[in-house]
Amino acid sequence: MDAFIAGLPKAELHLHIEGSLEPEQMFEFARRNGVAIPYDSVEAVRAAYRFSNLQDFLDIYYAGADVLRTEADFRDLALAYFERSAADGVRHAEIFFDPQTHTHRGIAMATVVKGLLAGMAEAETRFGITSQLILCFLRHLDEEDAFKTLAEAEPWLDRIAGVGLDSSELGHPPSKFARVFAAAAEKGLKRVAHAGEEGPAAYVHEALDLLQVDRLDHGNRSLDDPALVTRLARSGMTLTVCPLSNVKLCNVETIDAHPIDRMLELGLRATVNSDDPAYFGGYVGENYRAVAYGRGLTKQQLATLARNSFLGSFLPDEAVATHL
Ligand code: HPA
Ligand code: ZN
Repeated sequence: MDAFIAGLPKAELHLHIEGSLEPEQMFEFARRNGVAIPYDSVEAVRAAYRFSNLQDFLDIYYAGADVLRTEADFRDLALAYFERSAADGVRHAEIFFDPQTHTHRGIAMATVVKGLLAGMAEAETRFGITSQLILCFLRHLDEEDAFKTLAEAEPWLDRIAGVGLDSSELGHPPSKFARVFAAAAEKGLKRVAHAGEEGPAAYVHEALDLLQVDRLDHGNRSLDDPALVTRLARSGMTLTVCPLSNVKLCNVETIDAHPIDRMLELGLRATVNSDDPAYFGGYVGENYRAVAYGRGLTKQQLATLARNSFLGSFLPDEAVATHL
């Protein structure tokens, strides 16, 4: 089974590049940038990764990102992610980045984007993995800050596939960002949003109706609303599901109780992704293995999940066809 999973060509559609910062790399970047970190050892960092909800995790995740200072840091971070995911059979990745996490501490948008693009180019040459960038707005910040971020990204928009929405979901519904998503659409950008991770099915409706998303990140809570499930299935909406993340953030009790196969049975175009692999215990291969064993998935179900990842990607149809 492990060999079958490793051999499946996959796309990863839900990956926060800042969430791929491994503790070892955190120490390395801290050392080379002269940044103090509140941990004595790699083991102490890993021990701190116990979360009871999304906010618990976000507090640690934003603190960790403080070691990222230079273009080289962002390049090295991306390259390490691509190397690990290529080993898991990932052929294409659409990666999120959170510019406000960096611009708010004085790191220029250009530093972040140039570093990531350099890592992406090098990964394509070295590992044959293609990739695209998705700029995420932090939803706990206001609309004005999101507009400012979109303006700062203007020089790079031809290298950015789309915009997304992440960070603290509860109390920050998609409606808060309807205008900035409309502005992004006018610039020809794709749109995705985290919805229904901790928030209610109503937030998924808002992401569809008010943000006009092309893809839904997580979307688990849609299962609470049968009419919404029918709508998502009929429209062929892709859900970027993150099994180990769901367990680590206590949105699903155990991996054995994960609804991934129920989603497929309901006709949803579900995919498997790692979200923040350095924090949640595994890259995309580990997520496939976790649901394969936890839920007893068949090879056919696993192949459907992998196929869905290309169908739901932003690759042009001709490129999708080469992967199927
Ligand atoms: N949810 C919301 N925001 C995030 C996540 C997540 O799982 N990971 C990084 N930012
Ligand atoms: Zn996420």
